[in-house]
Amino acid sequence: MIVFKKEQDLRTYLSQQRALGKRIGFVPTMGALHAGHRSLIDRSVQPETVTVCSIFVNPTQFNDKSDYDKYPATPDADLKLLLEARCDVAFMPDAAEMYPQGFAEVRTYDFGYLDSILEGAHRPGHFRGVGQIVSRLLEMVQPDILFMGQKDYQQCMVVKKLLGMMGREQQIQLVICDTVREEDGLAMSSRNVRLTEPQRALAASIYQCLVSIQGKQNSDHFSLVRKECLDLLKKKGLDAEYVSLADATDLTLLEDYEPSKKMVALIAASIGGVRLIDNLFLNP
Ligand code: PAJ
Repeated sequence: MIVFKKEQDLRTYLSQQRALGKRIGFVPTMGALHAGHRSLIDRSVQPETVTVCSIFVNPTQFNDKSDYDKYPATPDADLKLLLEARCDVAFMPDAAEMYPQGFAEVRTYDFGYLDSILEGAHRPGHFRGVGQIVSRLLEMVQPDILFMGQKDYQQCMVVKKLLGMMGREQQIQLVICDTVREEDGLAMSSRNVRLTEPQRALAASIYQCLVSIQGKQNSDHFSLVRKECLDLLKKKGLDAEYVSLADATDLTLLEDYEPSKKMVALIAASIGGVRLIDNLFLNP
């Protein structure tokens, strides 16, 4: 595995690999890698593919400064995981490399409706920052395939829209990978290490709620199920930001189940000051 810190070195290497006929698979991350990230790397690693994993904790997507300050950094363990996964390239730039002219100089994109709901509504500026960094990374890496996790489903939709806005939807295939979970259902997340053991166990109630939303789609009105979920989360000591149902194709929010549509249930809740998100498709 080769570790690059400089854009120019990365570009030079990747253009050589492209000239050799290799495909480029790309997994952007913010580090503190876990089995969820690993599953994305595993999807990319193949004989004729050069797999690039970027690790950069992007300041512009954190609307909460203390969340940014507390974001875990485990570079040695990350490199070990990437080596074991047979990743070809680790790209670990610093902020000066990603934002040489400052944060304001990198183009921003307007995601419209997608930025007005759920994560967009609760984390002002978050998707603007995601758009800035992902567009910049895509220009550097110019991947053929981009691997992202369903765990951040709204982010996947934002990036899909971004590819269109960049005119790259033909060149770059976006592959959305399943959410990897702990045994009790809690979605793996870099932020989970900030939970105490009891908090971690209580956090599994987010997944329990998603499963109950899925299970009651043919019997109850969603507003009732939503209320039950909010009550359960509160009882377990979680602070719910939203418990929502949406059309999975465009994230239009739904008041009630609509079986003719592909539906996704989405939850954001925090415990002990750690904000967690998760989602589940309700039907195939
Ligand atoms: P990060 O939170 O590090 O996630 C990197 C990628 O791993 C994302 O595509 C995310 O959806 C995926 N991922 C995280 N947890 C997962 C899980 N439990 N199962 C499967 N996939 C999982 O998302 C970001 O970083 C950043 O916003 C980024 C796109 C890198 C831009 O800064």
